[in-house]
Amino acid sequence: MGWTEEGEKMAESETTVSSPETRVIHHPVLGDLPDAPVVHLTVDGREIAARAGEMIAAALLANDIHVFRTSPHSGEPRGPFCAVGRCPDCMMSVDGVLNVQTCQTPVRDGMSVETQHGLGTWKGGEA
Ligand code: FES
Repeated sequence: MGWTEEGEKMAESETTVSSPETRVIHHPVLGDLPDAPVVHLTVDGREIAARAGEMIAAALLANDIHVFRTSPHSGEPRGPFCAVGRCPDCMMSVDGVLNVQTCQTPVRDGMSVETQHGLGTWKGGEA
């Protein structure tokens, strides 16, 4: 759901991506979020829509997904912490590749993203 300049909700058909209210659409300094083409990816088997060019972490947070991995030591849930590529907390399995920093990796139509449990499980062929 998007927002008009007057702060009223727009019909979903007026926006390019179904935007949950967690996405910043109108910023007081940067201005309005420009339109972007829609891409689709799956996250643990669930299809979500994202804005082309945005980072995977941004797309997940906008779709109300906050647990990206679990700690290898305690098993506790983790989600983005620094959002600038300096911590391990946003690492997920992306198209079968483990330890992908989702805050630094743009979405791509058709990509498959999975929660990484602990150190993850290699599902690919030989390295
Ligand atoms: S949130 Fe820290 S590297 Fe992505």
